[in-house]
Amino acid sequence: MSENTNTTVTVTPSKALRGRIRVPGDKSISHRYAILAALASGTSSIGNYSQGEDCRSTLGCLRALGVDINETIGADSMTNTVEISGHGLKGLTRPSGPLDAGNSGTTMRLLSGVVSASPFRTVITGDHSLKTRPMQRVIEPLQLMGATFNSIDGCPPLTIDGGVLRGIDYSLPIASAQVKSAILLAGLHANGLTSITEPSNTRDHTERALEKFGSTFCRQSNGQMSVIGKAELRHVNVNVPGDLSSAAFLVAAALMIPGSDVEIESVGLNPTRTGYLDVLRRAGANIETEFTDHDASEPFGTIRIRYHHLQPIVISPSEVPGLIDEIPVLGALAAHAGSIEVSGAEELRNKESDRIAHLTEGFRRMGARVDEKIDGFRIAADKPLPGGTVDAAGDHRLAMAFAVAALGANGPSVITGSDTVDISYPGFFTALNSLQS
Ligand code: S3P
Repeated sequence: MSENTNTTVTVTPSKALRGRIRVPGDKSISHRYAILAALASGTSSIGNYSQGEDCRSTLGCLRALGVDINETIGADSMTNTVEISGHGLKGLTRPSGPLDAGNSGTTMRLLSGVVSASPFRTVITGDHSLKTRPMQRVIEPLQLMGATFNSIDGCPPLTIDGGVLRGIDYSLPIASAQVKSAILLAGLHANGLTSITEPSNTRDHTERALEKFGSTFCRQSNGQMSVIGKAELRHVNVNVPGDLSSAAFLVAAALMIPGSDVEIESVGLNPTRTGYLDVLRRAGANIETEFTDHDASEPFGTIRIRYHHLQPIVISPSEVPGLIDEIPVLGALAAHAGSIEVSGAEELRNKESDRIAHLTEGFRRMGARVDEKIDGFRIAADKPLPGGTVDAAGDHRLAMAFAVAALGANGPSVITGSDTVDISYPGFFTALNSLQS
């Protein structure tokens, strides 16, 4: 694999992948710990904070809101400890200019919930991709709670006039952990109780983190959850597990290439995130997981993956919220003589790119048979793909999915815009190389 400066990478067919590896800290969890630490009283220490650009955007926005943040990069340059000094729920200060969420939808949506309760105006903007993403889904509930929003037809930049919030009882129209989290974070500041019901389970990192930071949070058996406003949050010392959504690319690569045997250490195994592993096991994958810490608020452990030829994969609509970020890499698995069919996944069109359109286009260029549907796609290959030139479309998960497909192809592939992997997985290509040696 060779990378040059105009961010084009050439990926050649791979020999077996072997070895033990760690992946960067979980992106979703890093955002949440940083935000809650900024709202707690005292200094929190967050070990293994994601070094991806998205999580840097969250730190940048918090700094702009007056939060003191100190970062220490470990000698191995893999580990990053962030110390955040919070001054309680009312500790944020008026920013001197717009907050820049970069490419990060999580930063924009979660911080919208927080600044909805701040007694000043906040503008949150982002890059070209983020400016096209739908925000009405957070605007509506946060306005019901008492904040005022201005946007461009429901898209960023968002101008938010915060104020005194009231608790609401809200049923989410779509399954979205970001929207749920924005409401819960606003609910922390609201008068009374804020209750949310989700149409199906989504990642529960905010709920776990709220408990960890000492808020009064409860889950009911009927899928409803509530947070009591105005509770004091306490500072914590926490460690972020490795990101299973990043590990997913290495898992897929090992499953595709005969002779592979890879172990991924200290990776998050929260059951609301492991739908991907369940689907792979259903298709015959040889994946062992061992929990190494049962007491942590976020479970984590080791995953061992050995090559195995997979059966066709079918993803049903009810499975989509549990593996939404892993759908691009599932597409890559079809590249090595297999097939995958996904439906009920129209939300993919609202991600960092229109993932259905760009993913099907990319795999078609690499030589797969592809059907694009409004809410999903079908990708099939009777024999390994020839490879081709594909564009990452500014989307980190597409760049990595194409790279994985290229490892199992017959010929070289060129991925343009490959540096977008830095959004969630800086060092991704180095990690792949290290498993090939
Ligand atoms: C995320 C939730 C998901 C996911 C995104 C991260 C989060 O998005 O796709 O990458 O950290 O809460 P939605 O909430 O839009 O489903």
